[in-house]
Amino acid sequence: MAVRAALRIALVYLVLATVWILASDTLMAWLIPDDAQRLQMSMAKGLFYVVVTAAVLFVMVRAQMHNLDGERARVQSAHDSIVAQDLELRAALYEKQRLYTELEAKSARSQSLEAQLRQSQKMEGIGRLAGGVAHDFNNMLTVILGATELLPDELPPQSPGRSLVEEIQKAAERCAGLTRQLLIFSRKQVARVELLELQPQVVEARRMLERLIGEDIQFSTSLEGPTAHVRLDPIHLQQLIVNLVVNARDAMPHGGSLLVSTEVRAVDAELCAGHAGVVQGPFVVLSVTDTGCGMSPEVIEHAFEPFFTTKPEGKGTGLGLATVWEIVHQASGFVTVESVVDRGTTFRVFLPLADVRTTGSAIGRDAAQARRGTERILLVEDEEGLRTMIHHTLKRRGYTVLEAKNAGEALLLSEQSQERIDLLLADVVMPLLRGSQLAARLKEIQPSLKVVLMTGYVEDLEAELAHSRADDLLLKPFSADVLTERIRNVLDAPPPTPRIAAGAG
Ligand SMILES: Nc1ncnc2c1ncn2[C@@H]1O[C@H](COP(=O)(O)OP(=O)(O)OP(=O)(O)O)[C@@H](O)[C@H]1O
Ligand SMILES: [Mg+2]
Repeated sequence: MAVRAALRIALVYLVLATVWILASDTLMAWLIPDDAQRLQMSMAKGLFYVVVTAAVLFVMVRAQMHNLDGERARVQSAHDSIVAQDLELRAALYEKQRLYTELEAKSARSQSLEAQLRQSQKMEGIGRLAGGVAHDFNNMLTVILGATELLPDELPPQSPGRSLVEEIQKAAERCAGLTRQLLIFSRKQVARVELLELQPQVVEARRMLERLIGEDIQFSTSLEGPTAHVRLDPIHLQQLIVNLVVNARDAMPHGGSLLVSTEVRAVDAELCAGHAGVVQGPFVVLSVTDTGCGMSPEVIEHAFEPFFTTKPEGKGTGLGLATVWEIVHQASGFVTVESVVDRGTTFRVFLPLADVRTTGSAIGRDAAQARRGTERILLVEDEEGLRTMIHHTLKRRGYTVLEAKNAGEALLLSEQSQERIDLLLADVVMPLLRGSQLAARLKEIQPSLKVVLMTGYVEDLEAELAHSRADDLLLKPFSADVLTERIRNVLDAPPPTPRIAAGAG
């Protein structure tokens, strides 16, 4: 801009100067016509002015242009440095944001893990309590159940006592179920894990639950999609569904809709990070959605705690969701809850999808037909009632039974016995010497001895089995049929290989 203005002024000045010189000299020459030499002089003078002015102009413009280039370069470099600084600032900001988000996620994760730890500790407390009574409880139930199986044979066919025995049996079975429910919390309980197809299990649960759900609740299921297998104790799975559905029902006293659905979904590392013991991969998601009263954030916070309930006394024990939590965690899964007050709630249970190809056959629970035998069995059990019941059962099936109430007696009996003992049937938890230790000792003397252990719960099942090299492990309470069936199987089996097996439900 400045160059152009200077150029314009200089040009005007040049033109004016030239015109003035030429005009003045021409005027002179015209006034004094003969003076040709003066005319020539003035023309040369004019030309000189033109050339000098042009040269000055050229130098001025060049200098100006040079200044301008310098200015432009300075501005450009200032601009470049601002851009660079801006980029750096943005990068730093971005990094800061990233770190902040990461920190937030980590803190959320650690909070969730902390909450889970607290929950686990509470569960452990209940577990210890349950575990403490389960041993005796299961022993007594085994006696009751055993007696109810034997008793009908002693009664005349038309005896009214038969139906009473049936009632006792049903009650004992319900008690066994309750013990199992409590034992879920004591991780010492050996879950009777099976490979289960989820959809039929939901259908079965629905059939049972329809009676519990009032007519003003519309109960539907959505079980499309591929067949989804999970590894779970079938009783646990039924308990889980029942607890969630009953909660949903209770949340809708004036009716509403209830949906149970299943789907298979991938769980990524990010989602896993907030749940201890959860490994990424395909999961089966069982959702229970209701349109009930919903849960406030405070209720959600405590809902999974054992004995937390908002229901009136006598209506809820507060163990429903705690049981769900425990079952799901034992299966390496997790539960999420989404709820809006007055709108409704969705519980989602994530269970690892079981790979059917590598699973092999599931452990059966069915009590098979009892079979007879004539072998010699050494029975070691400190509970007198249970010992008598088992003795009686085995004797009726043709076996010879040597009875001992502790390991010391058992060792003595085996030493004194003239004939070979074929099988040791021993309780795991006994004073002084445990069943597994007794088995190990007897096997040193007679390696071919078959061993079946009985227990209500075992603290470290793997170690127990490895230590005793037992052929089978019976979970109390068990029925007479299951007892004889499993003993027959062990006696008929080729050389012993330790395995985990389950009793009857
Ligand atoms: N679907 C739901 N809608 C609204 N609130 C729920 C729902 N499920 C659970 N809750 C709340 O969580 C609490 C705890 O539930 P949980 O199943 O553990 O115990 P409970 O139902 O009160 O008693 P229990 O199941 O032992 O009979 C309930 O008292 C209720 O306040
Ligand atoms: Mg409940």
